[in-house]
Amino acid sequence: MARFFATTAIAYVNDAPHVGHAYEAVTGDAICRWRRLAGDQVHYVTGTDEYGLKNQRAAEAKGIDPQRLADTNSARFREAADVLEVAYDDFIRTTDERHTRSVQRFLQVIYDNGHIEEGTYEGLYCVACEAYYADEEVADGNCPVHGRPVERMAETNWFFRLSRFEDQLLDWYERHPDFVVPTTRMNEVVAFVRSGLRDLSISRGTFSWGVPLPWDTSQVAWVWFDALPNYLTAAGYAEGDDSYRQLWPADLHLIGKDIIRFHAVFWPAMLLAAELELPRRVAAHGWLLVGGEKMSKTKLNQISPFDLVADFGVDAVRYHLLRATPFGSDGDISYEGIVARYNADLANNLGNLVSRVATMVDNKCGGIGPAPRPDSPLAAVSMEVAAAAAEAWDALAVSEGLEQTWRLVRQTNALLEAAEPWKAERGPVVDAVLGDSLEALRIVAVLASPAIPCASAEIWTRIGLDGSPCDERVPEATAWGGYPGGRRVTRAEPLFPRRKG
Ligand code: MSP
Repeated sequence: MARFFATTAIAYVNDAPHVGHAYEAVTGDAICRWRRLAGDQVHYVTGTDEYGLKNQRAAEAKGIDPQRLADTNSARFREAADVLEVAYDDFIRTTDERHTRSVQRFLQVIYDNGHIEEGTYEGLYCVACEAYYADEEVADGNCPVHGRPVERMAETNWFFRLSRFEDQLLDWYERHPDFVVPTTRMNEVVAFVRSGLRDLSISRGTFSWGVPLPWDTSQVAWVWFDALPNYLTAAGYAEGDDSYRQLWPADLHLIGKDIIRFHAVFWPAMLLAAELELPRRVAAHGWLLVGGEKMSKTKLNQISPFDLVADFGVDAVRYHLLRATPFGSDGDISYEGIVARYNADLANNLGNLVSRVATMVDNKCGGIGPAPRPDSPLAAVSMEVAAAAAEAWDALAVSEGLEQTWRLVRQTNALLEAAEPWKAERGPVVDAVLGDSLEALRIVAVLASPAIPCASAEIWTRIGLDGSPCDERVPEATAWGGYPGGRRVTRAEPLFPRRKG
């Protein structure tokens, strides 16, 4: 069995989760659910990034201890993942004791390998990014990512000799052109490394909210040098032995486009310095925007995932997040947009199909579902859809995978509308059309389960099948003809009641 070790970025705990974080956690979850269907042994990790100046300052502003703020907000991130049905196997917190041990082991190996040296640094620092920028990157004194003033900082501390790894990194990118996806991001990364790398200041002596360096406990690790190794911690690196190798290297780091440099340049260099294997892929998604702008605390434009789930239900929120924006692009999220997609795809298309099929099986067939035809007109489109959806999911093209799946939903509704079984007496034609529709619903339940696991399981049960679509295996489960017939079909409340707005 192939294993699939996937991670999200770990979120800062300076604030509560917003729907941008939810987008990342749900996208990773859907990809992992697809891999489980494909038979992989999945290990999916998410968590929180709790040290550093940004988190410390947020705690100071509230007049509380940084650990307390971290505890409160980390719990909210975990709760958001739970509410969103994110099936994580591990939730890592950088203040976990296992993580301190892991970071210290990692730092010590790099130090022993001679890639960390003492030096002095002066530069422009953005606290929101927790990173230094070159003078030419800082237009009008503002951070290129956050547009907020940078601060001139000077310190004597420890440096990671990043500049030594330029050639090795460029060689790695050349040999692994899919290391970073989408390709546009890979090109940015290569251009950044080609422009020359500067050594990184990786420790701070000016505050103490961090992991102490094992050889100089007067300094704590720069937050990124402590955050990135969370992926190793999650693999079991803290144990101090080789057990982490069962999971490492990671198959997928799912991140937002704003932190690509950290994951595709700094992180691989750190791993090279520690003589560890590099992750197989870094996939950068776009930003969710509100009114065209990135969500932020200062703009008061954050949308809470808790509010959305309370309002629309978990499957509808997941579906919208996954379907609305092609992977890699930015997407605007609005209440009106969610309602429109909900009504079109979930209420009118899928929900209506489930209702009308169950009603007709009840009315015409005494509630017992007929078997599908092997030569159904839906068989060919179903096979096409299953193949195209699988290809899309494998390529992380999540919205495309769903678009393909909904082709089968629409074709099944079209078959019913053409045959009008509701007008006919029960007979072979009615049985055939209803059997075909039940089979299409079975296949849709499997293909849609990574996105809408609860509704898919509900459809599965309503058409009389045992177990859950999440426990099925593709491609077998999406081959035409699997619905056995003779099962009791349940007529129930609309799966996705239509919304007024
Ligand atoms: N703590 C760092 C990541 C360390 S990973 C070793 C961080 N935290 S964050 O809270 O700012 O962001 C966490 C993730 O959420 C990032 O991948 C980021 O791109 C993503 N998003 C934050 N806001 C987002 C949107 N508005 N839209 C989509 N994703 C967003 O960076």
